[in-house]
Amino acid sequence: MSQSLPTMFRSTQGGTLGLEDAGTDVRLVGWAHRRRDLGGLIFVDLRDRSGKVQLSFGPDWTPPAVLLAARALSQEDVIQVQGLVEPRPAGNVNPEMATGQVEVHVVALELLSKSQTPPIPVAVSPGDELPAEDLRLRYRYLDLRREEMQRNLALRHKGAQVVRNYLSEQGFLEIETPLLTRRTPEGARDFLVPSRVHPGEFYALPQSPQIYKQLLMISGYDRYFQIARCLRDEDLRQDRQLEFTQIDAEMAFIAEEDVFRVGEGLMAALWKAVLDVELTLPFPRLTFRESMERYGTDKPDLRFGLEFQDLTELLQQADFRIFQDTTGTGRRIRGFRVPGGGAQLSRKDLDQLTEVAKAAGAAGALWVRRGPEGLAGTFAKGLDEGLTQRFLERTGLEVGDLFVAVVGYYRLAPLVPESQGGVSDAARLGGAEAALDALRRHLGDRLGLRPASRHAWAWITEFPLFDWDVEANRLVAAHHPFTMPLPADVPTLVRFTESGPPEGAAARELYDAGLRSRAYDAVYNGMEMASGSIRIHDQALQRHIFRAIGMSEEEAEQKFGWLLEAFRFGAPPHGGFAFGFDRLIMLLVGGQSLRDVIAFPKTTTARALFEGAPAPVEAQLLRDLHIAVAAAKGS
Ligand code: AMO
Repeated sequence: MSQSLPTMFRSTQGGTLGLEDAGTDVRLVGWAHRRRDLGGLIFVDLRDRSGKVQLSFGPDWTPPAVLLAARALSQEDVIQVQGLVEPRPAGNVNPEMATGQVEVHVVALELLSKSQTPPIPVAVSPGDELPAEDLRLRYRYLDLRREEMQRNLALRHKGAQVVRNYLSEQGFLEIETPLLTRRTPEGARDFLVPSRVHPGEFYALPQSPQIYKQLLMISGYDRYFQIARCLRDEDLRQDRQLEFTQIDAEMAFIAEEDVFRVGEGLMAALWKAVLDVELTLPFPRLTFRESMERYGTDKPDLRFGLEFQDLTELLQQADFRIFQDTTGTGRRIRGFRVPGGGAQLSRKDLDQLTEVAKAAGAAGALWVRRGPEGLAGTFAKGLDEGLTQRFLERTGLEVGDLFVAVVGYYRLAPLVPESQGGVSDAARLGGAEAALDALRRHLGDRLGLRPASRHAWAWITEFPLFDWDVEANRLVAAHHPFTMPLPADVPTLVRFTESGPPEGAAARELYDAGLRSRAYDAVYNGMEMASGSIRIHDQALQRHIFRAIGMSEEEAEQKFGWLLEAFRFGAPPHGGFAFGFDRLIMLLVGGQSLRDVIAFPKTTTARALFEGAPAPVEAQLLRDLHIAVAAAKGS
């Protein structure tokens, strides 16, 4: 409900007026949204933040000079008017408009600010095509006048209020952390800020408040949160910005379940307040392994089933080369049953499956469907009667169903070294998994299984502790180096790192051991919305992690000494999470891009088009900062 917000300029906001105001004399201000000149009568829609109201200028109630001035109004002029709220004559009521039952009979008009013809339209109706986004960003102050953007930013504000209220009620303190800081280990590139007083030295802008929130736990603040700006110099996409906002939280004396309860409670509060939707709590929890095996991804869309099955050993017995050739290679045959898919999908749909699989990096997709006469499809002929029977039993395939399969290397399949017929990491990590995941999502869309009205959240747990950096050929921390390993996997970690960083093949062996961590993500309808972990609070364990990722004692001390020192003075067990706030708001408003919910975003080429950033600066400024530009564009 909009408030009337009277000021020295207005008695109320125009968008709040209704029948109950009929007969009141009002003073209003705002922008001339649309004007219709009907000869004798002139109608102007006056727009302010609360909405629009129709101004009516007529010879019976408007003085001639005011009528003349109204005739001269153009779009986006800023005006002040005085007049009487009147019920609209029957037949003129506009049910589409919140104020559609009334109009204001104007007696006085003052032009507060004249507008040139706007280069992009403000008065757009739902469904109208918008100008190119670059133009909208160039004239962002006009674009932000559009009703949709006003609604989005108001909703963003509401979202922030809900977050503050919920977390405050749960005992969290909002504490600000610095923007000029030292490198934080989130894995993206840092933005650097040169120090004028310390020549040759740089601050880093925070990729997240990670280290500070851990320090706050050591300082005894127990439950911290911040709606925090994070800055990462990464390549932009629809769901990524250089600067973005996290709901960042950390808690002490907790385990995963405590963190999950707060995180899901927070999401339930948001969904209730904004969409009036009751989320089902608790969210399902799936380990990374389960998620990869059942859905081929760590961000499964759980609005629908179509779970994967591994049929390698069964289908290797088929008289079908592609299946037989997997024997002894580590390649697996996995697929999923699509109930009713055989009956609902056309031949063209089925042919398209191969394209989908190829686009995701696999050689293709195989399928069979069960009709009244039995199986038909790409590998149906390779199955004799006995095998068909076992295939039907295993898959539960019924008449009208479809089964889709992809053959290839799956990340969590048993490893076969290259020397024994296996393949390189690059091949092993790509392909089959991604293809089956793409097929599952594609068919989910095709069969209408992914409606926006369903809200499927999940926590994915026990993420791998390490990743293998294929290019650098070395072990790296998968989340960040402060993530606690799963207790069951600590002995293996210690064994590999007892006497220093594991060298050469040993590092690879450590990766292949597949150590798990206490890191988790929150996933919504197939999108990653939050990450977090239980952190290491034990120095000795921390040292083993640094060694594992090839960091010497000196390097660790140099990079993270300030944190490691703090750990020596009584660090409580702690952990936390960060939700992508822009992403959440984007979903809640039904937007397509983060730019729909950020007032002044960057383009995908990392530019701010209105103010024109980045931009060259004066030579003197650079000299003051002790900076010499080696190569500028065009030089
Ligand atoms: P992480 O790097 O996974 O974790 O970020 C957490 C969440 O922030 C959002 N996000 C982004 N949103 C917009 N643009 C970006 N460039 C961008 N990058 C990330 C995502 C993501 O899930 N310190 C840890 C959290 C922790 O361990 O507590 C962190 O920053 O929604």
